[in-house]
Amino acid sequence: MAPRTPWWRGATVYQIYVRSWRDSNGDGVGDLPGVVDGLDYLRWLGMDAIWLSPTMPSPNTDFGYDVSDYLDVHPELGTLQDMDRLVEEAGRRQIKVMLDLVPNHTSDAHPWFVDALSGPSSAHRSYYVWAPPKADGGPPNNWLDATGAPAWTFDEASGEFYLHNFLPTQPDLNWWDTRVHAEFEHILRFWFDRGVAGFRIDVAHGLYKDAELRDNPPPRDDDHPAVRSGRLRPEYSSHRPEVHDVYARWRQIADGYEPGRALLGETWEFDYERFARFYGVDDRPELHMGFNFPFVLSELRAPEMAKIANETLGALPRGATPVWTASNHDVGRFPTRWCDDEDDATRAALLVLASLPGTLVLYYGDELGMADVDVAAQDQRDEMSIARPGHPSRDRCRTPMPWSREPNAGFSSPTARPWLPLGDYTHKNVRTEQADPSSVLNFWHRLAELRRQGLAGALGAWQQLAQDDQVWAYRVGGTATVVNLSAEPARCRLAQLAGGHVLVSTHAGQPAELTGPDVDLQPWQGVLVALATP
Ligand code: GLC
Ligand code: CA
Repeated sequence: MAPRTPWWRGATVYQIYVRSWRDSNGDGVGDLPGVVDGLDYLRWLGMDAIWLSPTMPSPNTDFGYDVSDYLDVHPELGTLQDMDRLVEEAGRRQIKVMLDLVPNHTSDAHPWFVDALSGPSSAHRSYYVWAPPKADGGPPNNWLDATGAPAWTFDEASGEFYLHNFLPTQPDLNWWDTRVHAEFEHILRFWFDRGVAGFRIDVAHGLYKDAELRDNPPPRDDDHPAVRSGRLRPEYSSHRPEVHDVYARWRQIADGYEPGRALLGETWEFDYERFARFYGVDDRPELHMGFNFPFVLSELRAPEMAKIANETLGALPRGATPVWTASNHDVGRFPTRWCDDEDDATRAALLVLASLPGTLVLYYGDELGMADVDVAAQDQRDEMSIARPGHPSRDRCRTPMPWSREPNAGFSSPTARPWLPLGDYTHKNVRTEQADPSSVLNFWHRLAELRRQGLAGALGAWQQLAQDDQVWAYRVGGTATVVNLSAEPARCRLAQLAGGHVLVSTHAGQPAELTGPDVDLQPWQGVLVALATP
């Protein structure tokens, strides 16, 4: 098949939490040479691109989301030469490499912050957000960080507070200082020049803070549950409109390369109009793609998913590329969250993910139906989770990739001590599933082939055909998806289905030809149908 243009539109992308994917040197931590070793598997999986969770030097209070040098590779993960080799070896297999960029905050160990701490007149002081105490000596306003504690930490030496929307070790950058813009434009070019194909942009909605540092209001009744579950609505501490100018500029830089580099935002936004804004307007494009968090946080049920898909596709500007994803290193794995670790439901979810029009981002292990792992308190590593008791630890979805049934699952040498424990990998591992024709992995493989043939590429041609409490049906071009998202049998009657040919079914025993308008679906059964009259 001719290469897709642009490459990211309708692509299948695989998120790799590098520390947990493949350990090449037996120190218990996955690394870049390990990713190189896994490239043939990724090719077999049908991946067009990989997105690596943070690879830059970091004190690891948030495992790379606290960057201390944007222009290098974390020594635990490898070297710049390893990164160059990964880009090259991946390229030989037609796989692009995207990195994670963290522009909202740095590590407190970043030389900019170290200098800023040296005093109010230091060169980098205004790279960060500083404010004096209130009259009562307390923090400048009511903003809370990701753990629910005040988002301000007092600096005794200068008598001012600095802002951190995440951990105190992650001071927020001050995007009102144009020197910060110049720094990041340089960082983008540095990696693009090395052949990196794009970035996932961390906290893409964050960057700017309200210039007057106004208090955040309480959530509104009509806010998404994810917002209502917080004490405040992060209206002034993030989600400021000025961020769009940054992305318009970055887009010019990315599009100036050949082939174009892609910007994929972690757009934590629940208002569809505001979400759509990240793609830009008319002749001022911004991000190429943004993660769709209403979908990520949906339930695997026809009414919920249909509503979200309709609203998303209705809100995005014409020609925009939607992104479908269901697991990541923060929210957990979909086979557990959506599917109760049942393979039938997991296949149904993969069918939906693979057949919605747009770009798909799978998280490592999704293709296996890999479940979250219960990580015992003494083995937990994620400080953000430890600081938020009562919330499930993010470690549950960051455990090592199971490659085989060997000790340590082939992730690391059999005698190593992986940085996080492995779950039960007796049945769910690459080698065992590859050998089993009925595995989740081989079901994904069939879907990947169909995506390669253009299944998800027909952007804009999406049409919902049916939706009730159980069944959801839609078509993209000449292909229809009919799926029963419930634990009871269901029937779907649609005139268009008569004469259709079933390309793939989540369940065995499905007749390949549809003679009439009815499809009888078992619990969690889904079929992909080539329509007789496209
Ligand atoms: C994003 C990342 C998350 C990280 C946070 C702070 O939400 O996905 O893992 O902790 O930003 O960088
Ligand atoms: Ca290693």
